[in-house]
Amino acid sequence: MRSLLYTIGSLLILLLSHDGGFTGAADAEHTFRATDIHTHRHRRNHGHRRGEEFEYSALSCRAYSASLDEFGAVGDGVTSNTAAFRDAVSQLSHFADYGGSLLFVPAGRWLTGSFNLTSHFTLFLHRDAVLLASQEESDYEVIEPLPSYGRGRDTDGGRFISLLFGSNLTDVVITGENGTIDGQGEPWWGKFKRGELKYTRPYLIEIMHSDGIQISNLTFLNSPSWHIHPVYSSNIVIQDLTILAPVTVPNTDGINPDSSTNTRIEDCYIVSGDDCIAVKSGWDQYGINYGMPTKQLLIRRLTCISPDSAVIALGSEMSGGIEDVRAEDIIAINSESGIRIKTAIGRGGYVKDVYVRGITMQTMKYVFWMTGSYGSHPDEHYDPNALPVIQNINYQDMVAENVTMPAQLAGITGDQFTGICISNVTITLSKKPKKVLWNCTDVSGYTSGVTPEPCQLLPEKQPGTVVPCNFPESSIPIDEVKLQRCYSRRRFM
Ligand SMILES: *[C@@H]1O[C@H](CO)[C@@H](O)[C@H](O)[C@H]1NC(C)=O
Ligand SMILES: *[C@@H]1O[C@H](CO)[C@@H](O)[C@H](O)[C@H]1NC(C)=O
Ligand SMILES: *[C@@H]1O[C@H](CO)[C@@H](O)[C@H](O)[C@H]1NC(C)=O
Ligand SMILES: *[C@@H]1O[C@H](CO)[C@@H](O)[C@H](O)[C@H]1NC(C)=O
Ligand SMILES: *[C@@H]1O[C@H](CO)[C@@H](O)[C@H](O)[C@H]1NC(C)=O
Ligand SMILES: *[C@@H]1O[C@H](CO)[C@@H](O)[C@H](O)[C@H]1NC(C)=O
Ligand SMILES: *[C@@H]1O[C@H](CO)[C@@H](O)[C@H](O)[C@H]1NC(C)=O
Repeated sequence: MRSLLYTIGSLLILLLSHDGGFTGAADAEHTFRATDIHTHRHRRNHGHRRGEEFEYSALSCRAYSASLDEFGAVGDGVTSNTAAFRDAVSQLSHFADYGGSLLFVPAGRWLTGSFNLTSHFTLFLHRDAVLLASQEESDYEVIEPLPSYGRGRDTDGGRFISLLFGSNLTDVVITGENGTIDGQGEPWWGKFKRGELKYTRPYLIEIMHSDGIQISNLTFLNSPSWHIHPVYSSNIVIQDLTILAPVTVPNTDGINPDSSTNTRIEDCYIVSGDDCIAVKSGWDQYGINYGMPTKQLLIRRLTCISPDSAVIALGSEMSGGIEDVRAEDIIAINSESGIRIKTAIGRGGYVKDVYVRGITMQTMKYVFWMTGSYGSHPDEHYDPNALPVIQNINYQDMVAENVTMPAQLAGITGDQFTGICISNVTITLSKKPKKVLWNCTDVSGYTSGVTPEPCQLLPEKQPGTVVPCNFPESSIPIDEVKLQRCYSRRRFM
């Protein structure tokens, strides 16, 4: 079957390149049984063919599709489908230059180890499809540490490749009808806690050096570590995700945009044992050398529950710089802090031009938190003179209830965090709040219309009137990108 597919696939490509058009593709489609053609145009031309049609939204639609079961996969939750996934992606990669391809994952429980994605490719999960991540270490290759980190996050040296991995790709879509990718992280969390891991735990998705990434309409469960990690990439849309991990397990961050440009994260619901969103750009001397910032990041309509961490963390690995972050319309419940800036001497880099408005918070330890002494270095060779620059941080229009301490804001002695603006914020304290409500050191800026009364380092700008903080009026490019409606066809099984 595989070689047949391959042969027909190659023939088809030949045909296409001869024909230079979709007519050839449509004619060939009857022969190429593993492939449905499903652009809108073909739907109209071949509406008589069997199969249930479905619609989805994506950065780009695809000309070809195949279903995972055509590659010998078994969705019984027990059989390993690593080979089937790898084979499917490898076959479908031949269509990259001919309109791209879609791999449909039908209903079922599909156990798999790591596999790589390809360009101009869509992975589409049926609503009752569950990708079960293998719990065997041998199902994850060991790959080099990220150059901007110098080592794995958990251990020195290499790291286990993520469940879904991609590098040097263009135009990758991972979506579905809210199907599930379950990391089955439990054994990993235990091994990590007991210090039994030789390498850094895998993520569920890591896509690096890539342009044009969409991850949408899916549920992610129980990653061994971070759930979603775009790094050294650009033009990224992440939306309509549910990400759930027990709130007690280590490092299960929701989404970690890292050294990436032009990213939009919206309509996500995240419950996690670590930060819901952690924005990063490399670690100490490795991040400084690599020098790749995260910039043009838009986060909106996020709901977060993170009792031991932040709704949005900036850092602690921020050595390549973080700039132009805009966040709005956020709901935080039972979380340790709202937006948190984490950095340390030795990080270098910067966090600047951060704009946040509209957060509703219920049961928080801190509303505002900045930590200049986060520590946590990759090794002893960091530069003690590499001081991070933290400036132009704007927070406005927030309501927080049942708060233990409104603000813990600690800059670095000799390296003030400057240009902090907080306006129109109403904080209601819990029954047993901290004695000191605003603890500010080595920070400067102003406040306006904030209760309870802020610290003296952030004086009221113009008593009697609320002077809003800045929020840019111009949009960032990714906000202009609209998803297309795509049409595909699901074969009856
Ligand atoms: C996946 O891609 C990475 C990086 O390109 C490579 O190291 C790895 O061997 C690939 N894995 C497979 C199974 O092809
Ligand atoms: C992937 O892209 C990076 C950054 O452009 C480049 O340094 C690297 O050589 C590329 N790798 C491959 C296998 O093409
Ligand atoms: C997202 O998934 C839901 C639930 O299956 C489905 O109804 C909806 O059409 C999907 N949305 C998109 C944009 O594909
Ligand atoms: C997706 O599934 C999750 C988990 O079952 C559920 O909580 C969420 O409401 C679903 N989202 C949509 C859009 O159906
Ligand atoms: C203050 O913030 C609230 C949301 O917390 C918002 O509804 C209100 O419009 C804001 N007021 C001003 C003057 O911007
Ligand atoms: C307020 O916060 C405390 C923890 O500080 C929590 O135990 C309590 O349930 C919260 N109350 C409400 C009404 O949310
Ligand atoms: C206030 O912040 C300083 C500097 O971070 C810290 O040493 C001190 O313990 C804090 N005090 C309180 C009451 O939180």
